[in-house]
Amino acid sequence: MNVVTAQIFNRLMTVPDFLSGESLCHEFSITRSAVWKHIGLLRSEGYQIDAVTGRGYRLSGMTGRPVEAEVLPFLTGNRFGRKIIYHPLTASTNILAKAMAVDGAPEGCVVVADSQTGGRGRMGRIWVSPPGVNLYFSLILRPGVPSIRVPQLTLLVAAAIHQAFSKLSSDLVAKIKWPNDILVRGKKLCGVLCEMQSEPDFTHFVVVGIGINVNQSEFPPLLQDSATSLFLERGELLLRPELLASVLNHFEPLYDEWLLQEDLSFILPYLEAHSLLQSKEVTVDQLKRSMNGTVRGISCRGELRLENAEGETVLVSSGEAHLRTSLS
Ligand code: BTN
Repeated sequence: MNVVTAQIFNRLMTVPDFLSGESLCHEFSITRSAVWKHIGLLRSEGYQIDAVTGRGYRLSGMTGRPVEAEVLPFLTGNRFGRKIIYHPLTASTNILAKAMAVDGAPEGCVVVADSQTGGRGRMGRIWVSPPGVNLYFSLILRPGVPSIRVPQLTLLVAAAIHQAFSKLSSDLVAKIKWPNDILVRGKKLCGVLCEMQSEPDFTHFVVVGIGINVNQSEFPPLLQDSATSLFLERGELLLRPELLASVLNHFEPLYDEWLLQEDLSFILPYLEAHSLLQSKEVTVDQLKRSMNGTVRGISCRGELRLENAEGETVLVSSGEAHLRTSLS
């Protein structure tokens, strides 16, 4: 969408009633036919705009797609999401965001897709990404910190997403599963995949890829027992642009705090209070080995604190954790 079209859209968003064509001509120094052209462009994007002779234009229907114009009105932060690149279909928003970051895209830039053909998950898994229902997006960060700190971002984002979910309804009991999942009733609602380009002392960029099952009403048989959506859990369809903005709104202040601090200490009480694994018996699978133990918390550097059978505390920095007892 070009700048003037977006500005006209924003004006239409801010007035509850009609906006006269004349006032738009005046405000944007354009002709009547140019106003009409911009209204046509907005309609072609899917917006419903009433046009009434003598009264002007009124926005009467949104697309509900997570496009910049529909996310912006919900943003409260200064940086995250102020630039959103939307694709109806792409292989993976993480791939696009990494290419943009290499080309110099600034921190806070977001790539969103309505659907992905090659959505990527952790450990080489795929992220099933059907159109029209969910959120698939990647946020570009330039934290400049030593690369060893970057894995902490996954947990920080998980906390922000959890906060955004909690704001939706207090009776949604979502749990954070170290290091990158959010589950409800033991089923996955959201996953985070961070990818970075760094040197030991300096992180050039991090792409934070987030997939949230929002309005999906059914899952393929293979995923039915392990995946769920906010719609299935709450029985209400959500506005994807508003939820996207809410995640960014929650994450931006946490990220700013994290940059000021040495570690995750400031958010640990929250992470542990909402952890699926806290005090549970787990197995953590790593590439070459597995470990059993009881989860005693998360370290300020983001590692899982595991008490093994000998009563020793082991700090686990990566892997896939599985509950060994019943889910709660
Ligand atoms: C996981 O749980 O394994 C992480 C899933 C991350 C999926 C998101 S969807 C948007 C972004 N683009 C991708 O290709 N992956 C992430």
